Amino acid sequence: MAKAKMNAVEMLKADHRKVEDLFEKYEKARGKKAEIAKKICLELIVHTMLEEEIFYPACREVGVEEDMMDEADVEHDGAKVLIAELEHGTPEDDYYDAKVKVLSEEIKHHVKEEEQRDGLFAQAKSKGVDLEALGEQMAARKKEILAGIDENSLPLPMTQTMRAAALGQRPQA
Ligand SMILES: [Fe+2]
Ligand SMILES: [Fe+2]
Repeated sequence: MAKAKMNAVEMLKADHRKVEDLFEKYEKARGKKAEIAKKICLELIVHTMLEEEIFYPACREVGVEEDMMDEADVEHDGAKVLIAELEHGTPEDDYYDAKVKVLSEEIKHHVKEEEQRDGLFAQAKSKGVDLEALGEQMAARKKEILAGIDENSLPLPMTQTMRAAALGQRPQA
């Protein structure tokens, strides 16, 4: 049976649960840590792209608090520093587990800002973002992004707010 279509917020929340689950698996894992870390990076790269390209601009358009949106963008870019570190290292490296742990804490904080009462998702809903239409757009874009990613050589995440620490650079709009 085909999966019921998810709206934008349902999709993003499902991603959050998936990555929380992966962080938990990493913490318990004895072997396969590299594989789990790679999955975490892939999930987060795709998720942040979908939010930054489609969901966040729609939120800004309907007038979700600007400070909240700006902080979300900077939190994404902060997380990308650690994602890039994980992509370039292996679980045998010094600090690798610590980087995974700190990334998981950053993501936990960020997810809370998105999901809490009066948070980003709640404001998007109350201000009338078209969640169904965005969900369709995001599902299509997700397929496209995944088709373009080689899981064995993940792309560097692209930042959009940083001036000093450049990872991959997204052209300024
Ligand atoms: Fe998110
Ligand atoms: Fe986010």
